[in-house]
Amino acid sequence: MSVHRNVKRVTTHVLQEMKDSGEKITMLTGYDFSMARIIDTAGIDVILVGDSASNVMAGHETTLPITLDQMIYHASSVVRAVDRALVVVDLPFGSYQGNSKEALSSAIRIMKESGGHAVKMEGGREILESVSRILTAGIPVMGHLGLTPQSIYKFGTYVVRAKEEEEAARLIEDAKALEEVGCFAIVLEKIPAKLAARVAKEVNIPIIGIGAGNGVDGQVLVVHDMLGINNEFNPRFLRKYHNLYQEMLGSFHRYIEDVKSGDFPNEEESY
Ligand code: KIV
Repeated sequence: MSVHRNVKRVTTHVLQEMKDSGEKITMLTGYDFSMARIIDTAGIDVILVGDSASNVMAGHETTLPITLDQMIYHASSVVRAVDRALVVVDLPFGSYQGNSKEALSSAIRIMKESGGHAVKMEGGREILESVSRILTAGIPVMGHLGLTPQSIYKFGTYVVRAKEEEEAARLIEDAKALEEVGCFAIVLEKIPAKLAARVAKEVNIPIIGIGAGNGVDGQVLVVHDMLGINNEFNPRFLRKYHNLYQEMLGSFHRYIEDVKSGDFPNEEESY
């Protein structure tokens, strides 16, 4: 068991110490009170209230439709459940791309109304002004580079990013720029493992990967994916720790049978 497992509260400083000492950082998404309670009790370091809530909670095809109000609802449910983990909340599409003033007011709303501890934003140099303004207000910012799902209509596909030299070089420059402006960590999504490892080496802040190999400082997965709740999503980078889709389906089938047959409730389950 490693040193930082015993910290009472994970802070951005704790994450930096973990990187500096070579201890891997664990991060999972969370969107609701009950799940976040279990994840926090397990000892996860960071819970990300991801805008993937748009997909897994609301059933949208992309992350674009989720609103700032909806993110605040999810984040406040998670914050109420958590004693130890750092809670990072995604700024949703449309809440920060307009200008830095709008970005700051979105970040302030998240911090004030949800009680989250930090925000995450997708993009590199093009959002630096907004990142900087949010940091000036004392709000910690996590960056997100590589596959950035809020730009899916620009990319056109969810394939691995930065395979070509030019895009890889741009990503490294973006990571350095985000570090320089003051981000406390960066998520790298779906990029070659070699490139991600290089970023983790050349940048001093923690680099958390998803589909970015093992040479980074920590890993993040969408909790519904790693539990196997969604049986239609099977990318190469995903390790499934459960097949909850089948387990839950079985339980729902048994419940339907028990009610239809009159077996439930029995005498012991009645007043
Ligand atoms: O929204 C999300 O779940 C994310 C992770 C995939 C990193 O941004």
